Amino acid sequence: MKAIILSGGKGTRLRPLTYSGAKQLVPVANKPILFYCIDNIVQAGIKDIGIIISPETGQEIKDAVGDGSPWNVNIQYILQEVPGGLAHAIKTARAFLDDSPFIMYLGDNLIGTGINEFVEEFQKNTPEALILLKEVKNPKQFGVAEISKEGKVTHLLEKPDIPPSNLALVGIYIFSTKIHTAIEKIKPSKRGELEITDAIQELISTGSNVESFVLDTWWLDTGKKDDLLTANVIVLDEWLKGNINGHIDDSSKVLGRVTIGKGSMIKKSTIRGPVVIGENTMIENSFIGPHTSIGDNVKIMKSSVEHSVVMNSSELIEIERIEESIIGRRVKITSNNTMHKALRLMLGDDSVVEV
Ligand code: DAU
Repeated sequence: MKAIILSGGKGTRLRPLTYSGAKQLVPVANKPILFYCIDNIVQAGIKDIGIIISPETGQEIKDAVGDGSPWNVNIQYILQEVPGGLAHAIKTARAFLDDSPFIMYLGDNLIGTGINEFVEEFQKNTPEALILLKEVKNPKQFGVAEISKEGKVTHLLEKPDIPPSNLALVGIYIFSTKIHTAIEKIKPSKRGELEITDAIQELISTGSNVESFVLDTWWLDTGKKDDLLTANVIVLDEWLKGNINGHIDDSSKVLGRVTIGKGSMIKKSTIRGPVVIGENTMIENSFIGPHTSIGDNVKIMKSSVEHSVVMNSSELIEIERIEESIIGRRVKITSNNTMHKALRLMLGDDSVVEV
């Protein structure tokens, strides 16, 4: 079995964080979302992985993932010239996939478990498609499935106005080669994309066996700010082990599960876990509260931060309290100590600031 990970697309929903970057590389607990996808695929024993990239963010993805040697797998990059839809991405990967059954994994999805059981289910029952589903409160925002009493998928709709159930398609699927024939038969949808839901519906309509597997852990579609903060909290709570490689001076306190990367320095500060701090970061006279991820080369002085994500190379100087915030890369926030208490801002398009 092979796998493709979809890391193309426009990524407009995480603006402004992804104006300049791939949304699949946005970090959760300091690790890009895409790396969690690769980990799950590798753990399922798959050795050949194709990563679909776009012309805009492809190089950034290649630089981050490399040739796959840290995972001991073969990684091939497949350029999708336009974001023509999930089924179009499969079409683009046709030569790589050859005649192999394959997993299709959307590179911006994070689930609270591995995919081994899901893969075993496909190998046991050999359906033409196996889809992963999760009950959600807001099915209108997703692909939605209707299931028979026997667990067979009877109907699929993409972002329907009237959802037939609350079972959303999580972006992880396994297909036999029959999906390629189905994709040849479908037409672009209203939003102009070749939809994978239409291709799976085509399989169902022509009598193929399409089965489902319901996910019983959390699933986060990390495309939005609140989801990203939630993902950060859950991953720090459930998966962070705590590992100190940086330096902590005698007047600092580090409490609970805390990971500090190489070359980082903690001076006269309190860190209350779960917290992850990257490499070569300097924290001085500050408080870092629970559920915070701080990237590499960050400087935090005389500040307090909790329940937040601070990405690489940013600086927070003399900021009394930052909470529930996502701070992108190379951002500088400093206090205004003059008598004239004005805000002086330089914010990119679509920024959100509460003062
Ligand atoms: O997140 C789950 C949902 O993902 C499913 O419930 C829907 O059925 C499915 O269509 C999909 O919907 P989205 O609208 O959320 O898909 P999005 O455009 O965000 O793309 C998902 C991933 O695939 C993202 O990492 C970008 C990548 N992609 C997307 C398109 C359209 C590509 O690589 N190529 C593409 O052409």
